[in-house]
Amino acid sequence: MNNIQVHPDVPKLVANFKVEDTSLGFGKYYSPIMITAKYSKGQWGKFSLEPYAPIPLDPCAKVLHYAQEIFEGMKTFKKKNGDLVMFRPEMNARRFNMSARRMAMPEVPEQLYLDACEAICAYSKSIVPGKNGESLYLRPFMIATEAGLGIKPATEFMFIIIASPSGGYFSGESVKVYVERKDIRCAPGGMGYAKTGGNYAASLNSYKKTLDIGCDQTMWLDALEHKYIEEMSGMNFFAIINGALHTPTLTDTILDGITRKSIIDLARLEGLEVFERKLAVDEVLDLVTKGQCTEAFMCGTAAVIAPVKSFLDKGKIFELPIIADGGISMKLRQKLIDIQCGNHPAPEGWLYPVKNHQ
Ligand SMILES: Cc1ncc(COP(=O)(O)O)c(C=O)c1O
Repeated sequence: MNNIQVHPDVPKLVANFKVEDTSLGFGKYYSPIMITAKYSKGQWGKFSLEPYAPIPLDPCAKVLHYAQEIFEGMKTFKKKNGDLVMFRPEMNARRFNMSARRMAMPEVPEQLYLDACEAICAYSKSIVPGKNGESLYLRPFMIATEAGLGIKPATEFMFIIIASPSGGYFSGESVKVYVERKDIRCAPGGMGYAKTGGNYAASLNSYKKTLDIGCDQTMWLDALEHKYIEEMSGMNFFAIINGALHTPTLTDTILDGITRKSIIDLARLEGLEVFERKLAVDEVLDLVTKGQCTEAFMCGTAAVIAPVKSFLDKGKIFELPIIADGGISMKLRQKLIDIQCGNHPAPEGWLYPVKNHQ
């Protein structure tokens, strides 16, 4: 962490930080400190840990007009002994740089990315919540700050990490899914696999429709045939069919979720079969009707695993059965949370210890 410059007010700001109500919620509170770094003339300047504050931005900054921006979402947990661990942050660092390449933005050296994440966690230690499922949610992001209305890749950027002491994103109730048959989120050759704001902007109109008809999440289908399940707007998808996990094969239109990968690894360790394949929505709905698809869930860093209650497709509701103990989905969820919080041994390399600052 020696490569991170620390503003003298940082310890005092964290010591004075108070959460005003008892429910943390998700992304409601922000650590009073943030990491910033500027990129210009082909290189990164100093990475510094500073007071959380608005960022100065020229109204012509390219991010505001052409959406040249990327972000990540990752979590740090407090173990029972008070130590902090980040969950598989190297994977976020690599995905961040993959997104950067797709969006014609500079990469952040992996170790520097990790050191910056570690620094904001270490200095936020006293405000990291430690109950089951609680975490410090980190939001690293990069924006094109160069001013100019010409449509061309920027040459000046800003990298920032903010952190949010958070409770569980998912409060336990299962989710009603709306199958989006008309709009698409992204197309082959596009930027669906990158974590960039445009993909989320593209999902919002349908999300509005989803909420208006009483559902919670939009399910996106492939752009060419409108037939195969891709993912939800911010989570990957699994169906449990005859006791095995089935999830769409990754393509350039699907975000390579770290939770998805961890669930595949965990399920295989538990002796469950996992199939990564093209998953037609009609097939899944038919298997729900026949009672062979007994569970389905969505997964991502924020929610971990959120079980599906029902699908709404072309005006028809397909209900999944209620399973008293939550079934395979909730077992995998608890296992993953136990690993993340240090209550269950983690597979090699999954937890990245945060060193204390001196
Ligand atoms: C579009 C999309 N798909 C899937 C995911 C799940 O990814 P992860 O498990 O790495 O959080 C996310 C969340 O980051 C997402 O935004």
